[in-house]
Amino acid sequence: MNKKEIISLLSIDNEAELQQLFDKAYATKLQYVGKKVYFRGIIEISNICIKNCYYCGIRRDNRELERYEMDSEEVIEAALWAYDQRYGSIVIQSGEREDSRFIEKITKILRELKSRTSGRLGITLSLGEQKKEVYKEWFDAGAHRYLLRVETTNEELYKKCHPADHSLEQRITCLEALKELGYQVGTGVLIGLPDQTLEDLAEDILFFHKHDIDMIGMGPYIVHNNTPFNRFKTTTDNERNLQLALKMIAVTRIFLRNVNIASTTALQAISPVGRELGLKAGANIIMPVITDIKYRLQYLLYEGKPCLDENADQCRDCLENRIRSIEEEIGYNEWGDSHHFMERKDRE
Ligand code: 5AD
Ligand code: SF4
Repeated sequence: MNKKEIISLLSIDNEAELQQLFDKAYATKLQYVGKKVYFRGIIEISNICIKNCYYCGIRRDNRELERYEMDSEEVIEAALWAYDQRYGSIVIQSGEREDSRFIEKITKILRELKSRTSGRLGITLSLGEQKKEVYKEWFDAGAHRYLLRVETTNEELYKKCHPADHSLEQRITCLEALKELGYQVGTGVLIGLPDQTLEDLAEDILFFHKHDIDMIGMGPYIVHNNTPFNRFKTTTDNERNLQLALKMIAVTRIFLRNVNIASTTALQAISPVGRELGLKAGANIIMPVITDIKYRLQYLLYEGKPCLDENADQCRDCLENRIRSIEEEIGYNEWGDSHHFMERKDRE
């Protein structure tokens, strides 16, 4: 697929053609990765962030927010809960931090979790840009996947969405370092950013291909009131962005075939069945939030984030029902590694 073809698929807006696109993506998913959905229980361990992305609710300059950091025991308890529920893996996510106390804390948590589950719990990290040595330390301690969204691959748009000291180039350097170290590498973009074009989104998909990305997490951009991008509140069209996000999932599936694609929580912030729609459009991963309810309001990246008052047990039951409703299965007790990663390793 070339850029023109991708743009033309992203432009579809008639019902029948849209359905065809989603059906084709679904068939591609069945052929290359199967019908199973894999759960990654996500633990949002801290909302402290040194970055100041203009769109994000937990950006450094948001003073309206109480900052928290879970202690190691709380993280381990949540992770072991997920393990007991037979979730094959977890994701440890946080605002970006670079202090050595934090880095060491993560290393210790990783070692402890690996030892307490005899290496069986899969662990993904989503802890922002770090030095290569830090990524290595965490890899050696037991993490094997890393998520770092590029947010957008258009340099100019990146600059519009971030302060001058945030750099797209640095992000890409980090993705390359992660790959070199042997991680399964995930990235993704925000969909519907102010002034973002279909051409930009097509370039994003080509970027995933060019960089041999194993896992993709994309979601609609949603306004958070307490951010500089609040000024785009009246021009941000959530319904359009939801549709566009589903089309991005579908086209990415058709084009990249064997990658893992997440049906993200942000889809559900716009529609109550957003995540089911994501699975129907070609996604195969769900990341149930297992962060304790007492922290959830403090980890509000955007307005309308769902499930703020549902504990991890309720989320699990709710998701099981949703997945049953679309006749898919859950890959319990499996890591559900990206087929693309295995293919890439064979190639190397
Ligand atoms: N709307 C949607 N997603 C957002 N994120 C941050 N702010 C928003 C927002 N306003 C996403 C970013 C980041 C991930 C953790 O959350 O893409 O990588
Ligand atoms: Fe921090 Fe990530 Fe939010 Fe940017 S998007 S402010 S790095 S948590």
